[in-house]
Amino acid sequence: MTSYADFHRRSLQDREGFWAEQAKLIDWQQPFTQVCDNSRPPFTRWYVGGTTNLCHNAVDRHVATRGAQNALIFVSTETNQERVYSYAELHAEVQRMAASLIELGVKKGDRVLVYMPMIPEAAFAMLACTRIGALHSVVFGGFASVSLASRIDDAEPTVVVSADAGSRGGKVVPYKPLLDEAIALSKHKPGKVLMVNRGLSPFTRVAGRDEDYTALREKHLNAQVPCEWVDATHPSYTLYTSGTTGKPKGVQRDTGGYAVALAASMKHIFLGNPGETYFSTSDIGWVVGHSYIVYGPLIYGMATIMYEGLPIRPDAAIWWSLVEKYKVTSMFSAPTAIRVLKKQDPAALSKHDLSSLRALFLAGEPLDEPTAKWISESLGKPIIDNYWQTETGWPILTICNGVEKQASKFGSPGKPVYGYDVKLIDENTGQELTGANQKGVVAIEGPLPPGCMQTVWRDDDRFVKTYWSSIPGRQVYSTFDWGIRDEDGYLFILGRTDDVINVAGHRLGTREIEESISSHANVAEVAVVGVADQLKGQVAMAFAVLKDASQADTPEKALKLEGAIMKVVDEQLGAVARPARVRFVSVLPKTRSGKLLRRAIQAVCEGRDPGDLTTIEDPSALQQVKDLVGG
Ligand code: PRX
Repeated sequence: MTSYADFHRRSLQDREGFWAEQAKLIDWQQPFTQVCDNSRPPFTRWYVGGTTNLCHNAVDRHVATRGAQNALIFVSTETNQERVYSYAELHAEVQRMAASLIELGVKKGDRVLVYMPMIPEAAFAMLACTRIGALHSVVFGGFASVSLASRIDDAEPTVVVSADAGSRGGKVVPYKPLLDEAIALSKHKPGKVLMVNRGLSPFTRVAGRDEDYTALREKHLNAQVPCEWVDATHPSYTLYTSGTTGKPKGVQRDTGGYAVALAASMKHIFLGNPGETYFSTSDIGWVVGHSYIVYGPLIYGMATIMYEGLPIRPDAAIWWSLVEKYKVTSMFSAPTAIRVLKKQDPAALSKHDLSSLRALFLAGEPLDEPTAKWISESLGKPIIDNYWQTETGWPILTICNGVEKQASKFGSPGKPVYGYDVKLIDENTGQELTGANQKGVVAIEGPLPPGCMQTVWRDDDRFVKTYWSSIPGRQVYSTFDWGIRDEDGYLFILGRTDDVINVAGHRLGTREIEESISSHANVAEVAVVGVADQLKGQVAMAFAVLKDASQADTPEKALKLEGAIMKVVDEQLGAVARPARVRFVSVLPKTRSGKLLRRAIQAVCEGRDPGDLTTIEDPSALQQVKDLVGG
């Protein structure tokens, strides 16, 4: 057996050989002629000359060998549905959806925006898009009309696939009114909206635009839509994510590199085997849902569980009951969910036979030691932290137990994953920090491995400027996370260097929230910061300066206005972005040159020393924040 250190070294020193070998894990229509073309960095092209198809690899190629085996297991504790699709059934459903999209005018290279709850049709739509060479752009169902409108304008979809409603905690959450509002707000008007009607919430149909999926599916029941063989570098999808500015970035992913990266990760990281069952508790609206609910497990010939519902409803044992029922071998979740389960019923796990489970993988936010200890002791299984980003599509740091069993360390996601040349960089000098226990920006020396973002959708310049130009004097990819490495080579993630916050594993941009709050008629100025939270990891806190302060001059009035502002955020961005509190101050802490001191506000909210304040314009501003948060 190769040691992991050798495996990793080879992935960088013999990049071509290493990735040519991994490429055997997927099907190719035409073999590639060049593994890695990095002649125009940072625009790396993987598997040049090769043609393949993501949907073929996820569905069609398994039909002959495992057509009757489970492919997609849909469980909704919201609507009490449970439906298992075999690979053959999935194959048929994807073709029905593909034929419907084609009928609505979708062609290779077109974008299809998917705004849907966690229902099988969402996965069918994604797979149908990649089948015909169209790009899907899934927008998280928790986002509201303004978030959605900005994504519609950027992606310019030919068709939007949506549903009447989602459901959360037994409460119906209508989607259609938000979609209608988003389309009214957007400049780009999608030609067609394909509606999946779950019968949860009556909606108004826009004549000539809205189409009914039940009817179209019926029409295409026996559809045979061949996979469109596309270049390995053909974009498979875009997925929007938040950054420093208010405008979300469309992360663009390729086809061949992504398929190879996911297949390899199922083997080396996620300890999967074809025919087994994988359960990721994420949502298709996030990158984990793309890579590890839909594509990764299916590409590897595994069954994947798609779960709609809360982790604690009907009770905190629901996920573990699914592990037992479907003999889940690998499970993927987020630390927040585990903290919720522990709070609810720490004994829920012991009610079920979890012997099938090999490991629990956690990602998306820092894994705190008490949570890691509790779940690891309760499960008696390895808990594998993994660190990555929407941009990379698959893990950057973890323990690759599929290559060589290695010890984990509490608080560390692990070591650099094969293919990633991870560096810690001094943000001021651009120098690499090679010693132990030095804090720096986590950066990746190019080329990025297969599967990572190709560019920002329609904005190559932004890709270069945002990710590859933030460190002085060198072109390396910045993750915008702080990190530190210990004597044994394990990395620890210490939080973002930018204005991105992480609420319950959901990545949000504070600037977007600020823009939304500013649209309230009485708000003159606002600062939003992420503040440490026991359960959610972080929550958003807003401090606003009012145009008319008399509107909040009593506690009752302040509370009312706070509620009204939260409502604005709910309506524009979605409840997921709603700040935990909106507090009112007469002035915000700024430097003399007018820069908001967000870090200082954050420190004060967390009861920490705000650090060097010599440049602050008005020290009483920070005092106001302190007084409000009781510091
Ligand atoms: O700050 C890091 C944090 O989440 C960010 C990426 O979020 P997103 O694009 O939504 O992708 C999530 C993919 C799992 C990172 O920049 N983050 C992610 N995983 C971890 C983490 N922080 C600490 N530990 C992790 N395991």
